[in-house]
Amino acid sequence: MKNIGFIGWRGMVGSVLMDRMQAENDFSGLSPVFFSTSQAGQAGPDIGVGPQPLQDAFDIAILAGLDAIVTCQGGDYTRVVHPQLRAAGWEGYWIDAASSLRMEEDSLIILDPVNRAVIDRGIENGVKDFIGANCTVSLMLMGVHGLFNNNWVEWISSMTYQSASGAGAENMIELIQQMGVLGRSCTPGQSALELEQVVSGKMRGTEFPQEQFGTALAGSLIPWIDRCMDNGQTREEWKGENETHKILQGERFIPIDGQCVRVGAMRCHSQALTIKLNADVPLADIEAAITGANEWVQLVPNEKAATLAQLTPISVSGQLHISVGRLRKMTIGPEYLTCFTVGDQLLWGAAEPLRRMLLILAGR
Ligand code: HSE
Repeated sequence: MKNIGFIGWRGMVGSVLMDRMQAENDFSGLSPVFFSTSQAGQAGPDIGVGPQPLQDAFDIAILAGLDAIVTCQGGDYTRVVHPQLRAAGWEGYWIDAASSLRMEEDSLIILDPVNRAVIDRGIENGVKDFIGANCTVSLMLMGVHGLFNNNWVEWISSMTYQSASGAGAENMIELIQQMGVLGRSCTPGQSALELEQVVSGKMRGTEFPQEQFGTALAGSLIPWIDRCMDNGQTREEWKGENETHKILQGERFIPIDGQCVRVGAMRCHSQALTIKLNADVPLADIEAAITGANEWVQLVPNEKAATLAQLTPISVSGQLHISVGRLRKMTIGPEYLTCFTVGDQLLWGAAEPLRRMLLILAGR
């Protein structure tokens, strides 16, 4: 497997993917072809061999000549191009960050540190569509899949604190614009209450930048992510349980539910988990299971200094580790565990599983 097409490499997830692939020398031995949905013919990125002209991302004949396609272009592109390619008889591998194909019967959701056995079985059985999970789901599983491995989890309630990056690049910019407006409202000598009045007035005003979020995120929060499902969940909340089940493909369906909330973090998603265990597992065994599950999970002692230094979005931002802390048994009972986890939404939450899937398929 050598000829790999890249679509959507210039967007936010795509750019992070390109950076990671270059940092890890992933392009060596591959013949990448870069595509554009709007700028075919212009110069593509230079990954060390000089820039090649961009190909047309809607040209089915060119796409069908590839061994694999990696796309971060988004769901609309997938919905248009993937069916045409398959209808044309293309049997290459489709690796996708978008959610459109995630729950299709013949696709797999990829998170190899967690479900490598599922992925290997899928490849053997001829699966061709490998789709990255929802970021919140990936980050939760990267943090606590040691508990799932031991079959200790009866159910989970996840309360999320999701960054602006999950909503998109424009939203990240708008968050900072909102912060800028608020910062400029501050005049020396004002009391806290006077300042609050001024700032709240700005946030409620018609001139406050809120085209993307529809309301203030800076100085506030938004307890709604994605569209409404029939049962009152948001789709983001629905994904928690359903994608987890598809990733793990375990025999038991583990109930997972909670509230997904957008907060003013830039690119790290955090989650407060309440985990009902099916036994009174000693905390030391729990810690060992969590830390032993993968090389990226980093256990943070349940202490203030360590929490401030290692368990905040800013301490994890741009890095590959997943911090898990505030771990303790709850006063509700010995089978109730709580913890807090933070991971970079663009790395393990989006780009990292894609580049690793490509390497698995390339036999590296
Ligand atoms: N849906 C997620 C969010 C990001 O809005 O934060 C993509 O997985």
